[in-house]
This record gives sequence, structure tokens and C-alpha cells, in this order.
Amino acid sequence: MKYQIKNEKFDQINSDASVIFVFNKNLKHKWVDKNALKNLNFKGEAESSVLVSEGLQVYAGCASLDDEELRLAAAKAYSLLKTSKAKTAKIGLYLGRDGFSSIKALVEGFELGSYEFTRYKSKYEKPSLKSIIISTESYNNKNLSQAELKKAIDMGLVFAKSTNLAKDIINTPPQDFTPLEMAKEAKKLEKIKDVSCKVYDEKFLEKEGMGAFLAVNRASVLPPRLIHLSYKPKNAKKRIIFVGKGLTYDSGGLSLKPSSAMVTMKSDKGGAAAVIGIIKGVSELKLPFEVHGIIGATENMIGGDAYKPDDVLRARNKKTIEVQNTDAEGRLVLCDCLDYAQDFKPDLLIDLATLTGACVVALGEYTTGILGVNEKLQQDFFKVSQKSGELTTPLYSNRYLNKAVKSQIADVCNIANTRYGGSITAGVFLSNFIRDEYKDKWLHLDIAGPAFVEKTWGYNQFGASGAGVRMNLNYLLNLTKDKKWA
Ligand code: BES
Ligand code: ZN
Ligand code: ZN
Repeated sequence: MKYQIKNEKFDQINSDASVIFVFNKNLKHKWVDKNALKNLNFKGEAESSVLVSEGLQVYAGCASLDDEELRLAAAKAYSLLKTSKAKTAKIGLYLGRDGFSSIKALVEGFELGSYEFTRYKSKYEKPSLKSIIISTESYNNKNLSQAELKKAIDMGLVFAKSTNLAKDIINTPPQDFTPLEMAKEAKKLEKIKDVSCKVYDEKFLEKEGMGAFLAVNRASVLPPRLIHLSYKPKNAKKRIIFVGKGLTYDSGGLSLKPSSAMVTMKSDKGGAAAVIGIIKGVSELKLPFEVHGIIGATENMIGGDAYKPDDVLRARNKKTIEVQNTDAEGRLVLCDCLDYAQDFKPDLLIDLATLTGACVVALGEYTTGILGVNEKLQQDFFKVSQKSGELTTPLYSNRYLNKAVKSQIADVCNIANTRYGGSITAGVFLSNFIRDEYKDKWLHLDIAGPAFVEKTWGYNQFGASGAGVRMNLNYLLNLTKDKKWA
């Protein structure tokens, strides 16, 4: 979609369709055609919208001027215009206190709402709508220059397109999106300035002593890959490392998943996909940090060669791990990747993973769990993430849960000795692989709930949502305003 800002009155702009956002159910605004709405039961409620076929007018309700309301309303408006023949639509928009972020949010709403995964559809008719014209009539903030308005559009596009790239990766089925394909996809980012990508094979994993990662891969006919993306702009003062769980398929291994739980497990590469989206985003935004993305890509399969419950593995950091459940494989891949990541001395270390069903049970399918050992960092991340449009909640451990992954025969066990608090105990397992000097700099984001959408919500269609991309881009963008970081 193309976005254009016009310094003209809304009524004077020529377009095939028009979009009017109704705030606080205020149907008295001059842009509202009261006659046209007369026989339609539209009250301007949040998340409601209506299409007046005469003149192709769309009305979309917003509860407030908050960014998320704008994203939701833009996506709603798009879904109504999608089946029309309109090529251009104009939009009248009141700006919130922060006009820049309103425009960014509007673009995000249209781009996220118009995403479709069509690769496997034999017949697909592209929607006609190609261009959105934004009228500046209602701008009361004269401080916003044309250049800034344009920057807001570009930033919205970067946030949304990085998210949509993650969706494409996750939605692609496991027979086509293999660990090798993941490496190819990551390599594509090398065309962006200051981005490079190294791909390591199983020999490297052996040399590095990544016994946990390798065990998960053993029964797969596809080789694993460790993918290391880096974005190194000149004069960067801080180093941020993201680590992503890249299970291109999780069958559960010998602790096989029931068939209904196996469907959607192509989304177990959601952490890796988010890491690729984040590197795309930070490099396109040209953020002033050195940012790395480390991905452990493999399948978790069954076979005569499969790793087993009762096996004891040796991780890269030399700790031994008793396996009691081969379906708790994500933490085994992550623990070796996290250990590798710490060799690069991060100032901030964040892993993203579709790690536990327990997180979905605890928080619902919309929310990411923020785990770690530094509660202040968890809270900071939570506060900033609230502006991103993604839902998050911090989850804290305690002295009792901290003891739950002890093993009778090895240093740690890959599952907890309690049925409860499974997302927290998975975090506790990972914390065993975080060196003391990085404990305070580490966050673990469990995106098992929002990574894959089974029932449409907000501007998320069925399929992947690209969870984790926007909250992290927003967090890093926010750090650029922090004297300690920039
Ligand atoms: N990939 C799953 C977690 C998952 C579940 C993601 C549902 C998305 C939706 C993970 O590898 C897993 O199977 N975890 C087990 C851990 C258990 C054996 C301790 C789980 O959550 O059941
Ligand atoms: Zn699993
Ligand atoms: Zn998994």
C-alpha cells in the first residue's frame, strides 16, 4: 500500500472511497454523513465499523485516540474496503497528543490488517485498494513538519513489514520451511547496510559441544543450523543480542504430541521468525546499537535415532541435563544458543520462544510472558511494550520454583518436578545457563500464546501474528532516548 499526506481539506480530496474514524461515539462531526447512516445501526463503538455503499464511505469507531485504537480501526476499515473496487481511499484523522505515533499506528493498522498468506492458493485475486491519502485538515499540532509526517509513515511501514515477514516465515509449512530455508531467509537480510549473516552446520555444533541442541536434532532427516545475524552500525556503543527458538517442526519427539496438539507446530519457529523480523527492523530503522540475532534451527522428530526420556545430555556450558520429556525440546536448543550468545558479551540479552503450553494456560492466547531474574528489567520491558500494541505480562519466579528443575542424577532436569507454573519453571531451567554476570541483563519472552492465531482477534488473521517483533523494535527505539544507552 502507498501512503500519501495531502495538505488539503478532507472534503476536497478526490478518492474512490473515504474512511472516517469516529471517536468517543461522536457522530456529530461534520465529516459524518448523518443521512447515510440513518438506517444503519452504527453507534461508533470501538472495534465496530460500517460501509455505506453509496460513495463507498467507511465509518470505524475508536474508543480513544490511543495508538492501538487507531490500529484496530484502520484494520477494520481495510477489511470493509478490501472487497470493493476502490483503488484509493482518503482518511480524515484527528491526531492524538503525539501526532507522529498516531500516523505510525494508522499505517501499522492498515499493513497488519491487510496481510494475507496466499502462497498456497491456486486462485487469488488481489484487492484493488492501493493507496491511502491522509488529509492534514485536522492537524492542530503545527510542530509536525512534512518531513516528520513522512518519517512516521516510514516507521509504521518498517514495524509492520518486519512483523509481516515473521508471519510469512511461520505460516510456511514445515516441508518447505526447513532449517536450511531458515538460513536462506536470514541470509537475505545481508542486502541491508551493516547486516551480515553466518550460518553454522552440525560439525560446528559438535565442535562447540552443543550436546543439548544436537540431541533434539538427532531423529530429524534434516540437518540443524545455527544462524548468527549481526547488524553493526559504526560507532555503536551497546550490544544487544536476541536468541530465537527455531523449531521448524515440533512433533514432541518420542514423548509424542497428541495429533490435535501437533497441528500448528509449524509455529514453533516463532521465536526465530521474530528474531529475523527484529534484525530487519533495527537495520532499516538504522538504530545506533550493535544488534545480533542468534537462531537455533532444527526439527524435533521421532525415529530409531531419537533422543530419549532418561538420556543425560551435556550442554555447551558443560552442565548435564536429564531428559524426562523430549517435548520440552525448546529449552535444550535455547540453552546452547544462549551460552554461545554470552561469548559475545551482550549489554542486553533477550530470547524469544514458543516455549510452553503452560504460558497459554496462564495468560490466555493473546499475551506474551516476560520472564527473567531481574524483576526491574521485566517491569521496564512491560511498561514500554504497552505502547507497541502487543500484550505482555511479567511472570516472576520465587525460591520454591527455583528449585523445581533439580535432577537426582544430573545437574538439571528438562522438566520440573511440579505440574504447576510450567512457564516459570521453563524460565528457571534457562536461567541455569545464564552466567552470573549476565543474569541481570537477560529476559526470556514466552510467545507460545500469541505466535499463532487460531481464532481471529484484533487485526490478526488466522495464522501467525508475528508476535515479539513490534514489542522489541519499540523497546530498542525507546532505548535510543535513554542517555545510558545511546
Ligand atoms: N512448542 C511447545 C510449546 C507450545 C505449546 C507452543 C502450545 C505453542 C502452543 C513446547 O516445545 C512444548 O511442547 N512444551 C511442553 C513442555 C512440557 C513437556 C514440560 C508443553 O508445554 O507441554
Ligand atoms: Zn515440544
Ligand atoms: Zn516446541
